[in-house]
Amino acid sequence: MENKESKSKAFRQASGQAFGRTWEPVESASREELAALQLQRLRWSLNHAYTRVAPLRRKFEAAGVQPADLKTLADLGRFPFTTKDDLRETYPFGLFAVPRESIARLHASSGTTGKPTVVGYTQADLDMWANVMARSIFAAGGRPGDLVHNIYGYGLFTGGLGFHYGAERLGCAVVPTSGGQTEKQVQLIADFKPRIVCSTPSYLLTLADGLAEQGIDPASTSLKLALAGGEPCTREMRAVIEARLGLNVVECYGLSEIIGPGVAMECLETKDGPTIWEDHFYPEIIDPASGEALPDGAFGELVITSLTKEALPMIRYRTRDLTRLLPGTARPMRRLDKLAGRSDDMLIIRGVNVFPSQIEELVMKSPALAPHYVIRVTRPQHLDDLQVQVELRPDAAASGEAARQQAAAELQHHIKSSIGISARVCVMPAASIERSAGKAQRVVDEREKTPPAR
Ligand code: DLL
Repeated sequence: MENKESKSKAFRQASGQAFGRTWEPVESASREELAALQLQRLRWSLNHAYTRVAPLRRKFEAAGVQPADLKTLADLGRFPFTTKDDLRETYPFGLFAVPRESIARLHASSGTTGKPTVVGYTQADLDMWANVMARSIFAAGGRPGDLVHNIYGYGLFTGGLGFHYGAERLGCAVVPTSGGQTEKQVQLIADFKPRIVCSTPSYLLTLADGLAEQGIDPASTSLKLALAGGEPCTREMRAVIEARLGLNVVECYGLSEIIGPGVAMECLETKDGPTIWEDHFYPEIIDPASGEALPDGAFGELVITSLTKEALPMIRYRTRDLTRLLPGTARPMRRLDKLAGRSDDMLIIRGVNVFPSQIEELVMKSPALAPHYVIRVTRPQHLDDLQVQVELRPDAAASGEAARQQAAAELQHHIKSSIGISARVCVMPAASIERSAGKAQRVVDEREKTPPAR
């Protein structure tokens, strides 16, 4: 009887039908069931890394630990971290735990400096990824039969193919447009009438402008759901995008080193931060300075250990993303709070720590300003100079120079009073700030060009 029932569940799952509220039964496992599964999988993953990846074995030995030392989940804190440098130093395939011939796909980060970081997947890894992505899209409100317009870049970036195979696994039809060519995106949306769009939040703004330019009210299209991620987006920015496009923006979090998109996904019913798919990715929060593990609820750097990955097991990978772990709501699995930023994105301006997201929040709160901005930091005469370039909203622009000056003075005041730093605000004409074609580049730090005074 039980066997027959589990067979029919397996069939329903394989044939792309969801289980009531969730896509996979494990999403509703209790915390106790989950902890037991995590411990068992963590043992496997540590062992897999230790026995198959020489550089990781050497790190374990240097730290004086062996996989057998893991008796409880808390023991993971004794194991060494893995960083982006470990991937760079072993470029391209040095951290792979399977022979090159068993790799079914490679992706790589663009790597603005030096060599890219390369990630590999076995066929089983690709299968797991498609499942967590199908689960993610389902949690975000996608259903079998939906038409999905996928703007994430196809290629070495994990966004495009990650969403593509997940949506297909769920039973959706995918329009694989990839990024760019806004006019064409607009035409395909108008003609095909997709319900779901997958895109970075910043490109959703570009898309809204593109629709308006072609005389289409951005809030009037068939799109009801945007699966947005890959870059930071404040709550204020999300609200602006939702109002402009007349849809729900649901947040996806992920990174190539761990799998790509699909590490965590927000659930539509609560929209309160991405649920981490903890049966595959074990999260910890650490103090970024000391490396010490912090309790749930404390802010720090997110560290993730893969529990099931074959090709590239990641043990305590330091994501550099700053956030905190929150208790589960729509699912028993824990959630990520809105990312405050990356530790390497934090700007230190005249000694003050500034996250770009803090400035974004203030820009978005100003009713006269459009959601397009660039933060430019320079060092003339050996002193940091912060300039925020931002556009006036077209309706406010009609009020002329006085409106421009007032908006600039107000933003300058808000930055000074809430962040504690003086900034020069430059309110620019509409459409003068470069639009996002994927991940937006909102910070230009030119200080290296002018070394500090000695
Ligand atoms: O950006 C994977 C992805 C694609 C996630 C599409 C979601 C949607 P990477 O290029 O390796 O992978 O960049 C990973 O992007 O460490 C974060 O700093 C940032 N990031 C990803 N999702 C979010 C998010 C993909 N929801 C890096 N909020 C991560 C803020 C995010 N930052």
